[in-house]
Amino acid sequence: MIDTEAVQTVTRNENKLEIVGRKPLNGVVKISGAKNAVLKLMAAALLSNNDCLIRNVPRIRDVETMIGVLNGLGAETVWEDESTIRIQIKDGLGYAAPDQYVREMRASVQVMGPLLARLGKVKLFQPGGCIIGQRPIDLHLKGFQALGAEVIEEHGYVYVRADKLKGAEIHLDFPSVGATENIMSAAILAEGTTVIRNAAKEPEIIEEQNFYNRLGARIRGAGTDTIRIEGVKQLNNRMTDYTVIPDRIEAGTFMIAAAITGGDVVLEDVIPEHVEALASKLREIGVTIEANGEKLRVVSDGRLKAADVTVLPYPGFPTDLQPQITALLAVANGTSVITENVFGSRFRYVDELIRMGAVIRVESRSAIVKGVKRLSGASVCAPDLRAGAALVIAGLAADGLTTIEGLQYLDRGYVALEKKLAALGADIQRVE
Ligand code: UD1
Repeated sequence: MIDTEAVQTVTRNENKLEIVGRKPLNGVVKISGAKNAVLKLMAAALLSNNDCLIRNVPRIRDVETMIGVLNGLGAETVWEDESTIRIQIKDGLGYAAPDQYVREMRASVQVMGPLLARLGKVKLFQPGGCIIGQRPIDLHLKGFQALGAEVIEEHGYVYVRADKLKGAEIHLDFPSVGATENIMSAAILAEGTTVIRNAAKEPEIIEEQNFYNRLGARIRGAGTDTIRIEGVKQLNNRMTDYTVIPDRIEAGTFMIAAAITGGDVVLEDVIPEHVEALASKLREIGVTIEANGEKLRVVSDGRLKAADVTVLPYPGFPTDLQPQITALLAVANGTSVITENVFGSRFRYVDELIRMGAVIRVESRSAIVKGVKRLSGASVCAPDLRAGAALVIAGLAADGLTTIEGLQYLDRGYVALEKKLAALGADIQRVE
């Protein structure tokens, strides 16, 4: 049994989040632009012939990293204001993505399709494994080969080149988001029509289709499992001004935070359909969710029922909310089974939740969670971005003080998470 008083007197250390739990969240929170859409649109801008303005861009570390990738290739990317970036592609664009950024951020692989289409070649440091499981790019490469490209993998690099790309019929073994996007990009200037079957259906894919079509591409079908890209000879020369959709994962994180604390929170700037898998699961758990246009109200009395969750590609329950819902179910009444079907090793954070008093057993791709009445504050470390969010959620519900290290992960993907939570009444602060 942990003495929570003693926990609360722990010395305040640097670069950590400190949360004193059990304060219900109340109020209104504005959701930022979608990280996973913005990063892909920035890569897509490599195909443009004129300036691209992207609005509603979240000011997070992954966006800064993508700016590094683009500028390292020879583009000029600048912040126009707090949430708008301007990307200008100049002559002499490089084909080798800068190693340091590729190592830092996996989304860097999304420059492959646009560079292959534009320059006929691309070289990239082979992205390795990752804390949330193996994340190969074989489906991306198979797609490029189907379009007529040659793939050379040596000395830790992937080199893809093509004198000419030709439209093809491509069936993905798994509806990979990254592979769908990269193949779609590569096919835009190919000769003839490309059809991607078993394509990913995520809203971010629709964003990318819309963005490319503004540049002059001819893509149809994003959001369904069949995407058709009619190759065009060249893209237009107009400036593009594009506003990114809200971040469904940030929205989901706040929905779960409101639910676990027995709060009453209105999210502004959400697309309710994008969070439907979570909303219906939260209703099953006992939370009230009301959608009104681009607002979503989440009301919870804190009495949560256990529920089973199966993670699947969109429109299934998103892998990027799996750690957060697991934290919630750790204090629900009964036993829940969470099954992860997208990334193999996405349960590493469970040990940290156990440190906070959760009762969880991981068996292969499933976590069996026996709900406890209370979590207890502890000193924990975020092993990755969404796991970090799960620990914050657990800390909001826990007795006493929770200290979270590993903020570099949270900062990759959330805009001022602690400030937004504090404005809702959480007792949370960053100690720097
Ligand atoms: C995944 C999520 C996406 C999320 C993103 C950021 C899914 C389907 N995708 O996208 O919603 O926004 O993480 O966290 O939920 N795979 C291969 N070979 C490949 C590519 C992928 O085997 O060439 C496998 C991966 O190992 C993984 C699965 O396919 O098991 C899904 O990968 P993918 O959708 O490509 O991942 P991301 O694009 O990173």
